[in-house]
Amino acid sequence: MAIPAAEWTSILDIKDFSKTFDGTTNVLENISFQVSKGEIFVIIGPSGVGKTTLLRLINLLEFPSAGSLMIKGIDTTPLTQKQRLELRRKQGMVFQSTILFNESVYANVAYGLKIREVPKNEIDEKVSKALKVVGLEDLKYRHAKTLSGGETQRIAIARVLAYEPDLLLLDELTANLDPSNTAKIEKVVKDVRDTFGTTILVATHNMFQAKRIADHVAVLFNGRFIEVGNPQIVFEHPQNPLTKSFINGELIY
Ligand SMILES: Nc1ncnc2c1ncn2[C@@H]1O[C@H](COP(=O)(O)OP(=O)(O)OP(=O)(O)O)[C@@H](O)[C@H]1O
Ligand SMILES: [Mg+2]
Repeated sequence: MAIPAAEWTSILDIKDFSKTFDGTTNVLENISFQVSKGEIFVIIGPSGVGKTTLLRLINLLEFPSAGSLMIKGIDTTPLTQKQRLELRRKQGMVFQSTILFNESVYANVAYGLKIREVPKNEIDEKVSKALKVVGLEDLKYRHAKTLSGGETQRIAIARVLAYEPDLLLLDELTANLDPSNTAKIEKVVKDVRDTFGTTILVATHNMFQAKRIADHVAVLFNGRFIEVGNPQIVFEHPQNPLTKSFINGELIY
């Protein structure tokens, strides 16, 4: 099934993606885009436009109503549940509302490694490495429930980094954080990409965050990408009037 890395053109290749939940309303409509290896691709848009839905589709937690998704050169349409799980295990998704297990930081970060049957001696090493990337090695033996909101988000990132995913899906990581914690998490995101070459998709409603971290940004509105490109160009010279309204804070939703 695996296709050699040299033969992929993009880590993600999405064509005419649509998603309907109740059979009538299209949450996503005819979305097509590609993401190259090692880029930070930010999906931005107001609440309820379908950002989480899109990430869940890419994480193979949902099926599209129409369209196709290629991941690392593999067409996901005909895959069995087992093959989908295999692909998903190479991806890491940090959800919008993070819930850590009611256990130690160590146990939380080790979890993904255990279910992947990584040998015990390697688990220690990988947990330490992941905690180092997020700058929280000192919290290894703390109980998860004693962590601050910012620390919780960083541990949630460490939990997926530990198994070295090649695609990271981050959903509104900083929505409830202050500027200092937001800056720390944005630094982690950039460090992960720079150090490991991980491809990272970020969903956010924060335009400033998109400007700070994105290589490419896609503006999602009413289920469609209304603008895609370099964040400086998209935000400084928007072509679509809806993007202009979003930038100016005029979109009511
Ligand atoms: N399982 C589901 N069943 C029915 N409708 C759903 C389901 N999941 C999402 N939706 C609807 O799809 C739309 C998009 O939801 P989604 O969570 O993707 O938006 P979002 O852009 O992530 O919003 P937010 O910024 O608030 O997180 C919403 O109207 C939501 O109610
Ligand atoms: Mg969401």
